[in-house]
Amino acid sequence: MTQILADETLLAEVEYAFERAANAYGDITPKVLSRFYESYPNGRELFSSNAGGQLSLLEGNMVEETAFFLLGFCEGSQEAETILTQSVPHHIQTLKVPMDAMTAFIDAFLFVVASKVDTSEPAAAALSQLRSALDPYLR
Ligand code: HEM
Repeated sequence: MTQILADETLLAEVEYAFERAANAYGDITPKVLSRFYESYPNGRELFSSNAGGQLSLLEGNMVEETAFFLLGFCEGSQEAETILTQSVPHHIQTLKVPMDAMTAFIDAFLFVVASKVDTSEPAAAALSQLRSALDPYLR
């Protein structure tokens, strides 16, 4: 069984960081996508080739799925584990979305969320702890 976090303090700080970004930006989707497209050269093609004509819908859904996954990972939820054990391989094998693209997407999400937290705040440390805990799964 995949071992994931179950840390309430971490969850509370990560939730706080998500709220700060939501309050500052409203919908964070455009920020996450522009960061992802800047950082991952083939990113636009991966989305457009998988979108079936509904690009914004897919972009928005993947931001939501990522938020859900990251919070679930902090909580140690069954759903987050299922994403790691089933959705990630499904992306790689069937959707032809490589692991490094998924990692770049998660990093773009975390970058946007971290941008509204001061580096001295506990939430900044929590985001970096979360990223380190994810590292073994994002290779
Ligand atoms: C890197 C760019 C990504 C692309 C191009 C992409 C594309 C897709 C597509 C085409 C689907 C199936 C159709 C749909 O449900 O609308 C899907 C489903 C899904 N994606 Fe993504 N995705 C990406 C990143 C992510 C990330 C980072 C996560 C979470 C960590 C994620 C989680 C999911 C989940 C949970 C589903 C539904 C279940 C499944 O089909 O496995 N995706 N994604």
